[in-house]
Amino acid sequence: MLSPTKLATLFPSKKLGETLYVFDELASTNTFALEYAKRHSPPDTVILADKQTAGRGRLDRSWFSPAESNIYGSILFCHDRPIQLLGWVPLMAGVAIAQAIETQTKIRIHLKWPNDLLVGERKVGGVLCESLSNVQKNNYVVIGFGINVNLSLSEFPQDLLDSATSLKIQCRRSVDREALVVRIITSLEKGWEDLLTNGHQSWLLKYNNRSATIGQMIQAHFPDGSRLMGRAHSIGVHGQLRIIPSSSDSNEQSARMRDIHSGEILHIRTTSPQ
Ligand code: BTN
Repeated sequence: MLSPTKLATLFPSKKLGETLYVFDELASTNTFALEYAKRHSPPDTVILADKQTAGRGRLDRSWFSPAESNIYGSILFCHDRPIQLLGWVPLMAGVAIAQAIETQTKIRIHLKWPNDLLVGERKVGGVLCESLSNVQKNNYVVIGFGINVNLSLSEFPQDLLDSATSLKIQCRRSVDREALVVRIITSLEKGWEDLLTNGHQSWLLKYNNRSATIGQMIQAHFPDGSRLMGRAHSIGVHGQLRIIPSSSDSNEQSARMRDIHSGEILHIRTTSPQ
């Protein structure tokens, strides 16, 4: 179980610490946060659960959420900002969480666009950002984060064995979940305030420094089933991924830069000839 008493003593600032809810079990901390904002118009709030029974990932996937080993959390931020700023929230969140994990564990975390948290090529965590306006016309952003903390290899389901990892596997020791989640929340709170006050420029630099995607050959998968191969070139002003389509499907059209705002990308590893 996550200890609410330990969490309370670890919070450096009172602000988010005062609106912190800790549950033994929820269907999904993001779903709870969205419902809560819809009904109650709360101030900025943190929701944590020890276990999720219907944890959600990006692109309508499920998120493996067993009890007593990982971190599942959502922060609700109330805001009055234009929608254009929101494109940067998922990228800022990825960077802020990566910084927090790195400070605690000393493990280098890279980001696969937009915000998969990687150790090497394996995924150690993910971020699901959603937004909502309620009937009182209050706008909310929900930043949901799931981190594989103290799972052992034998506890992963078969379908994740080749692609996922945990901090415990990487550090070869257990990691203090309460201390880590407080670091993550503190880092997200600072990141959110900084993004609102100063804009995205400094986040672009921080994001590029951690990107596992920029410069890589990638395949993008679109919701309509189409695919695009190319080289990931850069991040655009709205947080989108800019791709130079590869010459194999090149004609006048495909040689132009393409922008992806959402969707799935795969890194294509090419082995150079010996
Ligand atoms: C991804 O697909 O990479 C994003 C995963 C996000 C999972 C977290 S766990 C806490 C929060 N509640 C959810 O249902 N999902 C997010």
